[in-house]
Amino acid sequence: MNLTQLIQRNLPAQPWAEGEKIPWNEPAFSQRMLKEHLTQEHDAASRRAITIKKHIRWIQNFILARKTAHILDLGCGPGLYCAELARLGHTCHGIDFSPASIEYAIKTAPANCVYTLGDLRTVDFPTGFDLALFIFGEFNVFQAAHAKTILQKAQAALRPGGKILLELSTFDAVDQIGNQPASWYTSPGGLFSPNPHLCLMESFWDEDQSTATERYLILEENSPIAHYASTTQAYSPEEITRLLTSCGFEKISFHDSLTGQATPSPEDFFVIVAEKA
Ligand SMILES: C[S@@+](CC[C@H](N)C(=O)[O-])C[C@H]1O[C@@H](n2cnc3c(N)ncnc32)[C@H](O)[C@@H]1O
Repeated sequence: MNLTQLIQRNLPAQPWAEGEKIPWNEPAFSQRMLKEHLTQEHDAASRRAITIKKHIRWIQNFILARKTAHILDLGCGPGLYCAELARLGHTCHGIDFSPASIEYAIKTAPANCVYTLGDLRTVDFPTGFDLALFIFGEFNVFQAAHAKTILQKAQAALRPGGKILLELSTFDAVDQIGNQPASWYTSPGGLFSPNPHLCLMESFWDEDQSTATERYLILEENSPIAHYASTTQAYSPEEITRLLTSCGFEKISFHDSLTGQATPSPEDFFVIVAEKA
């Protein structure tokens, strides 16, 4: 993209028309993203260790009732949840398409953890799991057909009576993402580029499809303008219930958070647990 193309860009950006999501699976990007997963300074790509421990306590006590389980972690990133669960005696299988995250997960894996580098939309899921996790709102960043395929594959991967735990962005959180004003920042080198750059960001809420599309334009000296986009689907409780039911799940329950508790600040995420019918 050059400056003229930037000025003539489509307004508003259409959902999923300019790319699915930020390039988690691109090797150099995934190396830079790994630093964001592992830092204890913020909760952006993965939560900090102290928060993950609280989530694991709730999963262990409330979802698993302290019984040893075989667990599938979809979009596992660097395996931070799998590693904690494995320490409690569970066996875990994480799948992610970020090469740097999976390399890190394998390098640091306890014996009872395995990982697959693969795209959740296309890779075969192994079977026989008691619990499938899909954490931190990434489920929302799939278009409807892919979201359905992933749920169907997760359902088939569970043993009878096995459960899926989805952590989704709330409808209001997605609405807010889509309605943020355009903004920008400069960086001497960061997530989108290792070189000094300017990042221009704009967001679009699509009322008909209930989606937020974020566009990122990366400008650096002597390079074409790089262009990324990510679309997030908002689900009402009724919509996600219908989708889960159509994919063979029942006994659907809603929870305030991965600690099971509501927090005083407005919530960005909520949790759904459902059983293989
Ligand atoms: C927000 S991060 C969360 C990582 C991890 N669940 C956690 O909470 O620490 C989302 C993860 O989903 C992965 N992801 C996104 N789309 C994917 C796809 N199509 N196939 C496999 N992994 C995907 C990304 O690579 C990233 O590691």
